[in-house]
Amino acid sequence: MTITPPPVRMGGGFDGYDPLASLHGPDTAPAKDYRLRMASPVTGPEEIDAVSSVISSGILTNGPWTRRFEAAMAFRHGTRHAVAFANGTVALAAMFTAVGIGPGDEVIVPSFTFIATATSVVHVGATPVFAEVDSLTFNLDPDDVARRITPRTRAVVPVHYGGQPADLDRLLAVAEAHGIDLFEDAAQAHGALFQGRPAGSWGRAGMFSFTPVKAITTGEGAVVTTDDDDLAHQMRLLRNHGMSRPYHHEIVGYNWRLSEMQSAMGVRQLDRLDDILAVKAANAATMARLLADVDGVETPLELPDRTHPHTIYTLKVPARRRDRVMDALDQAGIETRRYFPPAHLEPAFVSGNAHHLPVTEELAEQVVSIPFHSRITVADLDEMTTIIRQVITS
Ligand SMILES: Cc1ncc(COP(=O)(O)O)c(C=O)c1O
Repeated sequence: MTITPPPVRMGGGFDGYDPLASLHGPDTAPAKDYRLRMASPVTGPEEIDAVSSVISSGILTNGPWTRRFEAAMAFRHGTRHAVAFANGTVALAAMFTAVGIGPGDEVIVPSFTFIATATSVVHVGATPVFAEVDSLTFNLDPDDVARRITPRTRAVVPVHYGGQPADLDRLLAVAEAHGIDLFEDAAQAHGALFQGRPAGSWGRAGMFSFTPVKAITTGEGAVVTTDDDDLAHQMRLLRNHGMSRPYHHEIVGYNWRLSEMQSAMGVRQLDRLDDILAVKAANAATMARLLADVDGVETPLELPDRTHPHTIYTLKVPARRRDRVMDALDQAGIETRRYFPPAHLEPAFVSGNAHHLPVTEELAEQVVSIPFHSRITVADLDEMTTIIRQVITS
């Protein structure tokens, strides 16, 4: 028997859909049927065969594919451990909980990030302290981080914006000088290198998310990489109801497991990562060339000591024209996003201890993120840059 999925409902404004989270969440749908979407995962018979084999095997969770996915991630990042989770938000919470971060503690995060970097801190009872980013790379400013450290600070969480690693050596120096941990929010940094070494292998641990806008995806899912044996052990306990052996619950844990279907997909997706990154690197070079002569438009800055995987591709345009750029692209059937509305100004945080972050607030008015998945063609880049050029020079 063939079961046909229900049709996707279109239209009607924002109703919870965001490709960072999921293509089709519960009762959500894209506001419009865009021709060029922010996310367009590359999948094929390899993923279908792997997921089918899981379903046929009857082992749907806690099985060999999850161990294989973890081993592949640890190998790729040169870390001793990799621990898979249901999503990046709980993976961040697991990292914090595993080292005992909780009520009364502060964790320094950028505001210019997806909200989960900050909300995961709240989920464990600690307080996120928002720090400034650099206006060129959109990554945490180490000097501002240093200024915000208090006796309560337990950790700093640099986000690798768009995938390009933050200033890890300077941030690690600040963290070490103050005796706090550095956890990498590498949610977008699949395949990125800092000084030749993978993002996710620098901090005490690093979190990679696998939602559909990422270079590779498992629908939902995340993996934490770490060299720390105790941390990995603790995270495995937290992930699986605190169980160290069947029905022996050492600590209060959660169900934060990734399913075997997702892990199988992750293994096959990892095989595609380098090809996908190569397409994106070529497209980024083309974009830089196509927009080089448009005054006022800045393509992502690529620093020489790190690689930029362009998981998210964000242009900086004059604030007064930004919404017009987005409207013109929208009218052409091209989806765009403002990655990211500053977390400290969101209703969830604005009434808290939030302070003014002028660099972040100015940036938030200038950014526009455009579709940049690996199915984007040179013709698509031509079309997008022609529209952007017209709006900016009109
Ligand atoms: C920087 C950052 N942190 C955290 C997350 C949360 O990950 P997830 O959506 O898998 O929960 C995301 C998601 O895209 C992200 O971009």
